[in-house]
Amino acid sequence: MSSEGFDRREFLNFLGVASLSFGTFSSCKTAAVNAVAPPNKTPNFYDRAHTLSLNPSTKDDLLLAQGLSYEVILSYGDKINLAGDEFGSHNDFLAFAPLNDNHTEGVLWVNHEYHHTLFVHGQAIAAQDKTKAQVEKEMGGVGGSLVHIVLNKQGRWQLKLESPYNRRISALTPINFSNNHLIMGTNTALGTLANCAGGMTPYGTILSCEENYDFNYGEVSFADGSRSLVMKAAKDGWERFYAQPPEHYGWVVEINPFTGAAEKLVELGRMAHECATVNVAHDGRLVVYTGDDRAGEHLYKFISDRPGSLKSGTLYVAEFGKGQWIPLDLQQTPILQKHFTTQLELLIRCREAAKIVGATPLDRPEDIEIQPGSNAIFIACSNNIPKGNYFGTLSKVVESDNNPLSLTFSAREWLFGGEQSGIACPDNLAFDSHGNLWVTTDVSETAMHKSPYAAFGNNSLFMIPISGDEAGRPLRMASAPRDAELTGPLFSKDGNTLFLSVQHPGCTASDLKNPTSTWPTGNRAKSSVVAINGFNNIS
Ligand code: FEO
Ligand code: CA
Ligand code: CA
Ligand code: CA
Repeated sequence: MSSEGFDRREFLNFLGVASLSFGTFSSCKTAAVNAVAPPNKTPNFYDRAHTLSLNPSTKDDLLLAQGLSYEVILSYGDKINLAGDEFGSHNDFLAFAPLNDNHTEGVLWVNHEYHHTLFVHGQAIAAQDKTKAQVEKEMGGVGGSLVHIVLNKQGRWQLKLESPYNRRISALTPINFSNNHLIMGTNTALGTLANCAGGMTPYGTILSCEENYDFNYGEVSFADGSRSLVMKAAKDGWERFYAQPPEHYGWVVEINPFTGAAEKLVELGRMAHECATVNVAHDGRLVVYTGDDRAGEHLYKFISDRPGSLKSGTLYVAEFGKGQWIPLDLQQTPILQKHFTTQLELLIRCREAAKIVGATPLDRPEDIEIQPGSNAIFIACSNNIPKGNYFGTLSKVVESDNNPLSLTFSAREWLFGGEQSGIACPDNLAFDSHGNLWVTTDVSETAMHKSPYAAFGNNSLFMIPISGDEAGRPLRMASAPRDAELTGPLFSKDGNTLFLSVQHPGCTASDLKNPTSTWPTGNRAKSSVVAINGFNNIS
C-alpha cells in the first residue's frame, strides 16, 4: 500500500486499548486512504474494476459499474407461490441453499427487516388508527421468504412459482424456542421480526437475526429491580392487537430452507443481533460471531459444545483492552451470579451481563465476515454519531494462534470511513472468489445528501482489495436508488452473479403522489432483490 497514512494505521494494534470508539484514535478519524491512482503494471481484476467503477451519484436508479447488468428477481408484494403468498417488505440478508451441484438452482432465503406504512397500505396511517387487518398485513410482510430460483438458459435468475419450497415466515408464524425454554411462560413466540442480516451453518440451515425488535413490541427494563415495559421505540401499534413480550424477540432464528422449520436459538443470547457469521473449528465445533448493532454495544462469539448443533455451548463477549473473550456463563464467571438467578435470565438480559463483565463498547457493530483461507474476522462498525464517529470503520480481529476456539485475540481498525476512502457507514460485508471484500453502506435516509454526508451521494456497494498494492482502496461498483440502502450481498458459486437486496427506495416520501423514488417500476418504489450479472466480464 503506497499511502503512508494507511500504512501507519495498518499497524495500529488494539491490544492495550480500552475501546474501539473513535475517542481513542481521534487523530485517525479524518485520516483515510488517499485518492486511488491506478498502479502501473499488468492489469489485474482491480485495474479493470477501477476503469469501470462509479463516481458518487444522487440519481434515482440502481447504477452499476460498466460490464455489469441486473434483473429484478422479486419485489415487495410479488406472488411467490400458487397459494398467493406475497414477497415481504424491506428485503435484507440473502442466503442460498443449492438444489444441484453447480448451484444453478436453489432456495433463496430473504430477510424482511421492517416496513413503511405508506408502502404497505398506499397511505400513511397513524398507529392508533390502524385496524387489526392492517396490523396483520404489516406483520405478515416481515420475517423472511423462501423462494426457489433457477438460472435459465438465457443466463437470468427467475422464481419457480410452482415450487413447493416457496413459503413465508412472518411475525404471525409461531416459532419455538430452542431446548423448549420457557420465556414469559411459553416455549413459543409469535413470529419473527426485525430480521436484518444473518448467516448460514455448514450443514445448510439459515441463521436470521432479529435486530431492532424494540420497534415492534418495545423493550423491558430491569433497572429498578422489577420488570417494566418501555415502549419508546415502538411506533407501529401492533401491541394494540398482539401485545407480545419483548423477551420473545432479539434472538437468532435457525431455519431449515427446505422445510421452513424454524427455532429461536436462545443459547446465542438476546440483543439487536445484526448477523451470525459461522466458522468451523478444527474439531468440527461451530463458532458464531455476532454484533449487537446499537451504539455502545458489543461483539460476541458463541462456541458450540459439539459439531452440527447450536443448541448448547458457551456465549462470550469481547473485551478489547486485553483482547479477551469473557464467558457469559454463571458457572465460569461467578460475578454474574450476583445479578442473575438462572442462565436463561442472563441470556435474555445479555446486554446487562456484558456490561457487568466489562465488555468493550463499540460503534454499532454490523456485519462480520471471515476472510477465506484464514480465520481473520472483518467487522463493519457503522458509526457512533453522539461520539463524533460519523463515517464508521472496518476492523480486523485475529484470534490467538489463528484458532477460532481461542479465548484471546488481537484487533485493529483496518479502514476508516471518510471522504478520502469514499465510504460512509459500512454495513454488510461479503468476500468474492478473488479475495476482495465487498461492502455496502448505510447512511440513514434522513441524513443522506446532507452535511457531513453530502459528498458520498446515494448509498453504494464498494469492492476493496484485502492484499497487494491496492489493499484498502475502495471502488464504487453500484449506487443505490434514492433513499435506499443495498443489503445482503451474496455471490453465486461461479462468481458471475451477485445477489443483492435493494431496501427501502423512496422511503422518505410522505405520500405516493410525490415519490422520492420510483425504482424499479418507473412508477412506484419497491424494495427488491436483484441478480447482478457479469462479474466474469471483469475478472
Ligand atoms: Fe439492520 Fe444494523 O442494520
Ligand atoms: Ca444491516
Ligand atoms: Ca455478510
Ligand atoms: Ca444498518
